[in-house]
Amino acid sequence: MLITGAGRGLGRELARQYAQQGWHVIACSRTPPADGYEDGTEFQPLDVADPASISNLAARLAGRPLDILINNAGVRSSIAGLDHFEPDEFLEVMATNTLGPVLMIRAVRANLRLGRTRVVANIGSRAGSMAEGLLDDDDDDYAYRCSKAALNMATVQLAHDLEADGITVLSLHPGWVRTDMGGEEAVLPVADSACALRAIIAAAKPECNGSFRAFDGRRVGW
Ligand SMILES: NC(=O)c1ccc[n+]([C@@H]2O[C@H](COP(=O)([O-])OP(=O)(O)OC[C@H]3O[C@@H](n4cnc5c(N)ncnc54)[C@H](OP(=O)(O)O)[C@@H]3O)[C@@H](O)[C@H]2O)c1
Repeated sequence: MLITGAGRGLGRELARQYAQQGWHVIACSRTPPADGYEDGTEFQPLDVADPASISNLAARLAGRPLDILINNAGVRSSIAGLDHFEPDEFLEVMATNTLGPVLMIRAVRANLRLGRTRVVANIGSRAGSMAEGLLDDDDDDYAYRCSKAALNMATVQLAHDLEADGITVLSLHPGWVRTDMGGEEAVLPVADSACALRAIIAAAKPECNGSFRAFDGRRVGW
């Protein structure tokens, strides 16, 4: 299995838990964690905002089966708000959170075809839900919200396109998680979120293809 953004935060914890469960984890990140990875984990350098970096990774992985791809790497804007956000940074967030996952799936599609479970989990966010995103969340990060909404559309299109390959594609909201991104006030410990996401991924069936779920299994409105 392969996880992007596995150097810290949720991706790091997912890598740890999958390794503990005996999986061979391909942990991809721009920077590996200072304390290293668990036994059975293979580090691969990857910048998901750089299409060449994704192509190079795919070349290194050619011919290897892949059961699960978790598109976890993500960023927020450093300056949010309609009057303040920077156009260049908006595009950078889109490149990382939306284009990166789509290019990753395209790059390792052949590897997933060789895999057994064939699940792609795009780590999205309820902040990108048009139905629910504004209900109890005053986040004004336009780039982040738009990037995650667009990732949801990519999930639906990819679910349609990859169905013939037996690949199940999901959008998953991890909850408000205590990481660098979520902050210290976040309600969910990172270990709990990762554990819950693993359960959803493990239970993913073809009938789940193209769905948007929260860490607790609830279907999130698009
Ligand atoms: N935390 C929450 O409350 C929350 C809520 C909803 C959704 N999410 C989503 O959950 C995912 C993980 O978030 P998190 O809370 O773990 O965030 P985080 O603590 O900020 O970690 C983000 C991870 O993404 C990596 N990353 C960023 N840009 C990258 C790039 N261009 N190439 C490769 N890796 C890159 C970072 O690597 P570096 O160390 O190299 O920067 C880091 O490992 C994200 O997709 C996020 O949008 C989080």
